[in-house]
Amino acid sequence: RELLLLNGPNLGILGKREPEVYGTETLADVEASVAAEISPRGWRVRAVQDDCEGALVRTLHDSYDTVGAIVNPGALMIAGWSLRDALANYPNPWIEVHLSNVWARESFRHESVIAPLASGLIAGLGATGYRLAARALLGLVDG
Ligand code: DQA
Repeated sequence: RELLLLNGPNLGILGKREPEVYGTETLADVEASVAAEISPRGWRVRAVQDDCEGALVRTLHDSYDTVGAIVNPGALMIAGWSLRDALANYPNPWIEVHLSNVWARESFRHESVIAPLASGLIAGLGATGYRLAARALLGLVDG
C-alpha cells in the first residue's frame, strides 16, 4: 500500500529555499522521513513534486489506488481551483501541510481553497508537520 506525498510549486528546492522560513531539510529528507514513519505499517511513499498545477491534477487522477495523501500545495492554496477540484474527487483521506505558519505571514497566504476538503491541516511546524500528517493518516486509514 502506498501513501501519496504531493508537493506543489517551489517545494522541490526545499533546503535552499528561504531556509529561515522553510528550514534546511531537503525534499528528499522529508520523503525519507515520511517513509520511515509509515514503514512499520508496511506502507510505502509515492512522492511527487511538480511546479505545474496540471501535473499535480494528473497525479491525483492516477493515484486513486493510494491509501491517503499528504498535500503541500504551496502557493496553489490561494487560488488552485483545478487542484481543489481534483482533490474533491480523491477518494481517500488527505491532510494539508504547510511548513510555515501561513497565518503569521502576509495576508495573501491566509486563504486556502483546498482546506475545506482536507481531513485536517498542519501548519507552522516545519518538516515535522509532514511526519505528523503521516502518523495521523496511519490512524485515519484502516489497517
Ligand atoms: C507553503 C506556504 C505557502 O504560502 C507558500 O506559497 C509555499 C510554501 C509552506 O509550506 O509553508 O510555497 O505552502
